[in-house]
Amino acid sequence: DDLARNSTFEEVCYLLWNGELPNAEQLAGLTAQLEAERGVSDELMGMLRGYPKDADPMAALRTAVSALGMFDGAADDNSDAENRRKAILLTAKMPTIVAAFDRIRQGREPVAPKAGLSTAANFLYMLNGEEADEVRVRTMDVALVLHAEHGMNASTFAARVTAGTLSDIYSAITSAIGTLKGPSHGGANVEVMNMLREIDESGTDPKEWVLQALESGRRIMGFGHRVYKATDPRATVLRELADQIMQGSQQTRWLDLSDRIRGVMAEEMEKKGKKIYPNVDFFSASVYTTLGIGMDLFTAVFAIARVPGWTAHLLEQYANNRLIRPEVDYVGPRGLKVKPLAQR
Ligand code: COA
Repeated sequence: DDLARNSTFEEVCYLLWNGELPNAEQLAGLTAQLEAERGVSDELMGMLRGYPKDADPMAALRTAVSALGMFDGAADDNSDAENRRKAILLTAKMPTIVAAFDRIRQGREPVAPKAGLSTAANFLYMLNGEEADEVRVRTMDVALVLHAEHGMNASTFAARVTAGTLSDIYSAITSAIGTLKGPSHGGANVEVMNMLREIDESGTDPKEWVLQALESGRRIMGFGHRVYKATDPRATVLRELADQIMQGSQQTRWLDLSDRIRGVMAEEMEKKGKKIYPNVDFFSASVYTTLGIGMDLFTAVFAIARVPGWTAHLLEQYANNRLIRPEVDYVGPRGLKVKPLAQR
């Protein structure tokens, strides 16, 4: 909460990688390093142009990050210094990749990153081809801060498992992106927007819609969390941001609808005695929509925010590595023998 209100994404990156917030000089150093790494090579841009135009942006990002590893001659050098360089490189290049792919698939030319802009401002600039106003940039920045790190969630675990074999950091981030893509994890923000649109287009009363959905055993996207059994604190900050940005743009439709769904869910879950509350994805969907970000880019935005968190975990994993190999309880039959093929 404190970081979301009082710091920037770049400061949070530094904090995650170094364990403390930067002073002005350290922040200037990191900002310059990110700026120097934002561009992508002609080879990679050529690959992005060759991807199917209807590819899921998460599939495009996963493939491009995997390719970045092939172009890095030191990909397999897992020293701390090299991996810190790669953490900065990935954090800098992933927004450029997502924005470039989005423009290419729409038949538009990618926009090169602009010097002097923050990660948040650059992302909106590269996406739309024009600089966003201060409120939008701050909203984007806070959304990045809120998503930057979240403990041992599924994608972070996947990244750690990959690094635990002493495979390289690009492979680990590729695993993480593939894991984040699923609708039970990062993909939920897309499903929230699908739900809001479905309710809006059906013209059904939101309360009726939610009751029917619950009755049919459907999950309401953007609710529930493996760890939080109370409102996800990130959702509270995003709700405030959504309010600010939507009041400014006179577009309160999605927020009003979200609030109604939240009200019905609160009543219903209380009746059922279940601790299901809004999570981070519930309000990020309407915030991103108001920022003009296409619905199918939401999970890729989550990925560009989470990469400092993933890489911070990876620095820790490589520094004190142990192979991650969970035990499982085998419950199948025992003592079987190979029957000759002809007798099976
Ligand atoms: N809508 C309605 N009911 C829900 C629900 C939701 N979003 N999430 C969980 N429940 C219910 C389950 O049906 C289950 O009910 P039951 O005990 O009567 O069977 C109970 O709450 C516990 O669910 P469970 O699946 O054990 O929780 P989990 O910890 O395994 O699941 C999530 C966590 C996040 C996967 C789950 O809440 C979910 O699918 N949410 C929607 C997707 C989402 O928003 N993901 C983003 C997470 S940040």
